[in-house]
Amino acid sequence: MSSDATLTLNTGHTIPSLGLGVWRMTDEEAAYIVSAAITAGYRHIDTAQGYHNEQGVGEGLRRAGIGRGAVFVTSKLRTRDFGYDNALRSFDETAKRLALETLDLFLIHWPMPAFDLYVETWKALVALHREGRIASVGVSNFLPEHIERIADETGVLPAVNQLELHPYYQQRDVRNLHAEHGIVIESYSPLGGNGAPILADPAVKAIADKHGRTPAQIVIRWHIEEGLVVLPKTANRARLAENADVFAFSLDGDDMTMLRGLDRPDGKTLPHPKDMNDMF
Ligand code: A2P
Repeated sequence: MSSDATLTLNTGHTIPSLGLGVWRMTDEEAAYIVSAAITAGYRHIDTAQGYHNEQGVGEGLRRAGIGRGAVFVTSKLRTRDFGYDNALRSFDETAKRLALETLDLFLIHWPMPAFDLYVETWKALVALHREGRIASVGVSNFLPEHIERIADETGVLPAVNQLELHPYYQQRDVRNLHAEHGIVIESYSPLGGNGAPILADPAVKAIADKHGRTPAQIVIRWHIEEGLVVLPKTANRARLAENADVFAFSLDGDDMTMLRGLDRPDGKTLPHPKDMNDMF
């Protein structure tokens, strides 16, 4: 895999455009898959406290024997650790579980608007960034109003916002706004989530046939060509290699137009940030 595709964050650090998502994996699965992914050429792993597999991710990195500087590692703050002091303590626990002294990226997992703690929490992440413990800090599932508020109250914009995004849920307006502010968008559930429904779409299949590629490769390539960071999840070793083999072909204008046409009003599959107030 020649996955040299990177984007530059507002902190000046680069982020590989392709990363491995590890949601719904146990520690054991994560250790196995992360190690296999590094061997297959992945240089970016995306976990979260709420996935309960940070220890497995750390174990996988050690098994792969990869130098710390050669791999980009992200985790996310669980919602029950919101608030300034809690967030500082919680980050220490993440660092311990991963057995890493510093992280490349740490995100607030959800805004949890009903709790109204995301500004205080953001201040803690900014402090950790200033101390050098986290190279870049960002958010996930934040709506534009939440981003505006943290920017107004702290003067610091997130480096990324990680959002549900795929051809059935393209979020064009939101993306334009992030581009204006230099915030990189990371796509989660990039294949449409559990069961990967987009891979059975006739338009995606037709483009795949045309290029002699798999539907998953077409969709992952689409994210990269759209300037997004893409985080496909797989716990399957064969699919690891398939999902990373997306740098030796490109989509043409007709393909991009066809894929753009798949956006649909009911395309979102996971909870909307304004309704998500679960403690985890
Ligand atoms: P599995 O882990 O068994 O491979 P998303 O990244 O959008 O959340 O999608 C993840 C879903 O898509 C999972 O169900 C995953 O299952 C499946 N998946 C990942 N890569 C592929 C692929 N190349 N072909 C088919 N299904 C895939």
